[in-house]
Amino acid sequence: MNHRTRILALAALLALAASCGQPQKPSTVGTTPEVERRVEQLLSQMTLAEKVGQMNQVSAGGPVSNYADALRAGQIGSILNEVDPGRINEYQRICVEESRLGIPLLVGRDVIHGFHTVFPIPLGLAATFDPALVEEGARVASVEATAQGIRWTFSPMLDIARDPRWGRIAEGSGEDTWLDARMGEAMVRGYQGAQWDATSMAACVKHFVGYGAAEGGRDYNSTFLTERQLRNVYLPPFEAAVRAGAMTLMTSFNDNDGVPSTGNRFVVKDVLRGEWGFDGLVVTDWDSMGEMIAHGFGADRKEVARQAIDAGVDMDMMTYGYISHLEELVRSGAVKQSAIDDAVRNILRVKIMLGLFENPYVDVEAAAPLQYAPAHLEAARRTAEESAVLLKNDGVLPLSADKVRTILVTGPMADAPHDQLGTWAFDGQKEHTVTPLQALRERFPGRVVYVPGLKYTREHKDRFDEVVAVARRADVVLAFLGEEAILSGEAHSLADLNLMGSQSELLAALRSAGKPVVATVMAGRPLTIERDLPNCGALLYAFHPGTMGGPALVNLIFGDATPSGKTPVTFLRTVGQVPLYYNHNMTGRPYNGETLLADIEPEAGQTSLGNTSYYLDYGAYPLFPFGYGLSYTSFAYSGIALDKGEYPVDGTVKVSFTLSNTGSRDGTEVAQLYVRDLVGSVTRPVRELKGFRRISLRAGESRTVEMELPVAELAFWGLDGVKKVEPGEFQLWVAGDSASGEPVSFIVR
Ligand code: BGC
Repeated sequence: MNHRTRILALAALLALAASCGQPQKPSTVGTTPEVERRVEQLLSQMTLAEKVGQMNQVSAGGPVSNYADALRAGQIGSILNEVDPGRINEYQRICVEESRLGIPLLVGRDVIHGFHTVFPIPLGLAATFDPALVEEGARVASVEATAQGIRWTFSPMLDIARDPRWGRIAEGSGEDTWLDARMGEAMVRGYQGAQWDATSMAACVKHFVGYGAAEGGRDYNSTFLTERQLRNVYLPPFEAAVRAGAMTLMTSFNDNDGVPSTGNRFVVKDVLRGEWGFDGLVVTDWDSMGEMIAHGFGADRKEVARQAIDAGVDMDMMTYGYISHLEELVRSGAVKQSAIDDAVRNILRVKIMLGLFENPYVDVEAAAPLQYAPAHLEAARRTAEESAVLLKNDGVLPLSADKVRTILVTGPMADAPHDQLGTWAFDGQKEHTVTPLQALRERFPGRVVYVPGLKYTREHKDRFDEVVAVARRADVVLAFLGEEAILSGEAHSLADLNLMGSQSELLAALRSAGKPVVATVMAGRPLTIERDLPNCGALLYAFHPGTMGGPALVNLIFGDATPSGKTPVTFLRTVGQVPLYYNHNMTGRPYNGETLLADIEPEAGQTSLGNTSYYLDYGAYPLFPFGYGLSYTSFAYSGIALDKGEYPVDGTVKVSFTLSNTGSRDGTEVAQLYVRDLVGSVTRPVRELKGFRRISLRAGESRTVEMELPVAELAFWGLDGVKKVEPGEFQLWVAGDSASGEPVSFIVR
């Protein structure tokens, strides 16, 4: 064999290895050979400048002329923050008709919990434990938003949040990995639709990754998650959403263990692209590329642009780092042409799959009647009903409409149409929002007396004489408390989680009137409401409930609907307990209800108090555990049994139990399945949610229910850094919350 034939043979061998040696990963976004053919065809016609242009996303708004030249020159691949369908059409026209290659724009928007029709904030959506309903809500959002030309939403936010000081806890599903994953999948399905059509809106799972673990609950702060925590707790919801077909993903602002996400090759290239095979689009968060300079990770925009492309980030949101420096970086050899081509492939794939080339424009006339369509409002109302959590009821609820002649409505959230929408509701208009006060007045004309007591939640007052005087004359007091939308969400963290201003004092004053007091708290986070509980007969917790919050809450208060929401996050007694979440690991000295400060003699000297893990002043338990929520009826679990005692690692645990409605009203219970791995190569959480079922039962009805737990769900990343099920003994609970129930045991061999 001469030298030339040897080289040719080697080349053929390499080609063969490339074609059949490495099995091709299936596409996570569901691309087809035809889509890929179109991607390659376009790519082959593009100049480097045009490619880099596709990788640039800018915030629009203002006159179209501001962006016309850049669009014509192919320097913008995507815009965000434009919602006017006429202007969006004009942007598309310039791209399609006046740019050299006619590539349409991808128009993005934060459609987080509804577009015009606003649903409860995501934390409230999670409280429904009802993925099918959440999917329906995301579909509604998509139908409304796509009608106006928005084809990409920056949702769902899948950041696990175990610190309610963090304002963005409002935007996610709370503290649990499994619940978060189910909610994420539901939203992805809802936004993108069962098949690709003009109502499909690409989902963007965010913020990748760890952002919710901000130190001290201060937004944007550093995180220090180990790889094991990332893999066991923070990454699974993202993986689930990717498997559900999410088209896009956003890198987060935080630096984890010193590496900002937008420059983090490990999470983006190795895990997301490599391990999960993600072939969708990765976008930065707003200027998170530029912020790597502030972090001290790169010296200037050119360097951070190189770091971001090296990490595998396709599109730059608002740093102008790619558009300013990528061409130069490619020419100098610092960035490979192939890296640019891969990024552009990921972007074009989304545009082609969304059908933007065929249908770049929307019908402006047709868009308007879809907004706030009756069916959309109805879905929002049902969701708000399922989302509210009844935390206390001494029997005052539900009210009976014919027994209350005079209803005092009070509190700063009773008639706050903008604030009940919650954070990220830019497009929800307050004129369309129905507040509790409006809903009550409509339902009980002439019977409602409204005295706000406090205008804003932050207002301080010493006396509440007027409202207390009216309370004395009323049959019932409905107090709407909480926090305005501005007090949670991005960059709106708090250090004190008690009801603000004089709200607690208002509630205490109302109680002194001696009439039944029903408190409803509308908030973006679980506030510390322990001191308020004694001052009301019932307390309904509504994470900002959206456009139809008023009618939903009134239906619940008057028993036309029965509460079924469950807390998606632990409610703390005091903020000093942070972080306190149900699925913590076990200490070597678990708290056992030992002596609290109040029980220690003032004169007591140094003494042993049991030496367990707790706070002297607050113990170690929360106010309400994860998964908690009352109904107007009661439920009992009995006969919990497994089909076997032992299972192989590829088996399925079948659990059956009887759920009985032991009260006198119909109701719906969220049955929750928890497990504990008793001994692992690393310590495992005391309980982990692995399943739930919403079950509706008539008063007095009992039903045998079966749930399945694939043993594979018990896998985790252990000491050897491999994800697997570790055989051994497990406990399993089926219960109405994370702190109840008796375990049954099983073995995995
Ligand atoms: C937020 C993102 C959001 C983006 C675009 C950022 O400040 O962190 O969640 O999608 O802005 O509005």
